[in-house]
Amino acid sequence: MKKIIIDTDPGIDDAIAILLALAAKEELEVQALTTVNGNVDIEKVTQNACKILEVAGRMDIPVYKGNAKPLERPRDHCEEFHGDDGLGNLGMKDSEKQIEEEHAVDFLIRKAREEKGELILVPIGPLTNIAQAVRQDPEFVHNVRELVIMGGAEHGGNMSPHAEFNFWTDPEAAKIVFGAGFEKVTMIGLDATSYVFLSPTLRELLYLINTPVSRFIHKMTRAYADGHWEIEKKLGCELCDVLTIAYLLDESVAETVDAFVDVETSGLCDGASVVYRTFYYPDKKKNCQVAVKADTKKFFEIFFRYLFPEYLEAASREL
Ligand code: BDR
Ligand code: CA
Repeated sequence: MKKIIIDTDPGIDDAIAILLALAAKEELEVQALTTVNGNVDIEKVTQNACKILEVAGRMDIPVYKGNAKPLERPRDHCEEFHGDDGLGNLGMKDSEKQIEEEHAVDFLIRKAREEKGELILVPIGPLTNIAQAVRQDPEFVHNVRELVIMGGAEHGGNMSPHAEFNFWTDPEAAKIVFGAGFEKVTMIGLDATSYVFLSPTLRELLYLINTPVSRFIHKMTRAYADGHWEIEKKLGCELCDVLTIAYLLDESVAETVDAFVDVETSGLCDGASVVYRTFYYPDKKKNCQVAVKADTKKFFEIFFRYLFPEYLEAASREL
């Protein structure tokens, strides 16, 4: 059983990632959700985390509120993809779930210490909380077992030609995390997540499955798919954050290369991840592995096997 904490800015794909993690009860123990400013502001993402837990019927999982802004600068949110409320403008009522009083960063530090060498962190928003934990506690990097990060790109960004949203939102934080010396870091960036597009056909299947969770994903992804169409003229929507959870469930879903990654914090390439594959640059010391490709069929098999097992066969016919 892997013990995980999802550090998140829900966000439509964040929500789906959380639902997948919660569905994998035998494999993943989700210890908490920690929230961070990103797709929308901190109050909304924290409220959204609670709403997602409510949909999943997992009100027992604690939610800790984290940083309201990036470490060193203000940045815009991402309403054009996620809607004003961050969850596709579904007009859901506020959750009654209580937020924990402890700050997310203090909680992360405390939990990593208590679970020394066991805890896997899954940051799927800007890396502000994680970087602050690194700054605050010199032991933090040694206490954490592994990081599986959604962010960055080896080739091509989505906020600029080179920068991906999570790293672009808080480049200083991303730089700190990659330079911190964590034992094991996997960067799941846009090169790999471009393989995990929810097609209109699979989205329709989610409607037909007709459970509260499947209908929630179907409804929520309406605005997300519209955003992809308006901005990129692509049909469907990219399930970026969900690939981190699929990877935790089956590492063979993504192909990785060893790399030294650093992050630009100014100029034309502000927020870009610079990926030196150690195969080509042997003088660079590996600080992570970078996902360069994902297996689309395997990803959606994982998605349906855990979330809607009775429909795995129907889904497989469309892959
Ligand atoms: C990342 O940006 C956000 O909008 C998504 O939730 C994902 O974490 C993809 O670039
Ligand atoms: Ca996210």
